[in-house]
Amino acid sequence: MKLLQRSATDLSPRPAVLPAAAPNSRPSTATIAIVGLGYVGLPLSLQFARSGVAVIGLDIDSGKVDSLVRGHSYIQHVPSEAIARMKKAGKLSASTDFSHIREVEAVIICVPTPLNKNREPDISFVLNTGKAIAPFLGAQRRASLADNRNHRAMVGNSHNPQLSTRQSETAKKLIVLESTTYPGTTDEDLRAILEETSGLKAGVDFHLAFSPEREDPGNPDSKVATIPKVIGGHTPA
Ligand SMILES: NC(=O)c1ccc[n+]([C@@H]2O[C@H](COP(=O)([O-])OP(=O)(O)OC[C@H]3O[C@@H](n4cnc5c(N)ncnc54)[C@H](O)[C@@H]3O)[C@@H](O)[C@H]2O)c1
Repeated sequence: MKLLQRSATDLSPRPAVLPAAAPNSRPSTATIAIVGLGYVGLPLSLQFARSGVAVIGLDIDSGKVDSLVRGHSYIQHVPSEAIARMKKAGKLSASTDFSHIREVEAVIICVPTPLNKNREPDISFVLNTGKAIAPFLGAQRRASLADNRNHRAMVGNSHNPQLSTRQSETAKKLIVLESTTYPGTTDEDLRAILEETSGLKAGVDFHLAFSPEREDPGNPDSKVATIPKVIGGHTPA
């Protein structure tokens, strides 16, 4: 994972900017999970939902999850109305139950990495997330993804174990770390936890990448929808 050896600002002198979806482009059928619904994860969830992707937000903080399930924001610059609208459209749900990972095609990890006493990122939240998601990383049959979407549209936040047992080996999940951290966290520390806990292999049974959050808080021109993304994969795209 060569790109992971360099900081986000070192990368890509001409970063790719993904174009906004064209008005009559086909609606997305993807379902993703965003783990960590804080200042980064919640706006990112809403942006994916607005783009037509179904988002399951996962957090260990049941207060935040309850708030989202009720359609209420807990972040000042995120309006409750935006959450309620995406929830109503069936594009946003939230849960503390990590078994929902079974239902998604991609997982984006946005958990905290506070600086420790040595001024280095504390990656324990990232590693705990790795342990929590690893048991559910097995690939999933594409048909059951659609079944699950239909199911969730009907029942909202609950999980149907019957659908989860209908897995097979066709769709490999993509795991992306977005938390700010030092080189090697994804390809060494997180990969080791995911592989040890799941018994699966990165690059073979699931895909793994790092894509740092590049938000510039307080800058009115820095919007989730237009910030160029830099992505380093364990294997080539
Ligand atoms: N906030 C910013 O402007 C900003 C800018 C650039 C980079 N970042 C980076 O993005 C990452 C996330 O930052 P943030 O500001 O959103 O943090 P935050 O504290 O606002 O939110 C993190 C969320 O993760 C949840 N969480 C903690 N452990 C978890 C676990 N094991 N499983 C699931 N959820 C868990 C917390 O409950 C919280 O809701 C950090 O690495 C941060 O350094 C943040």
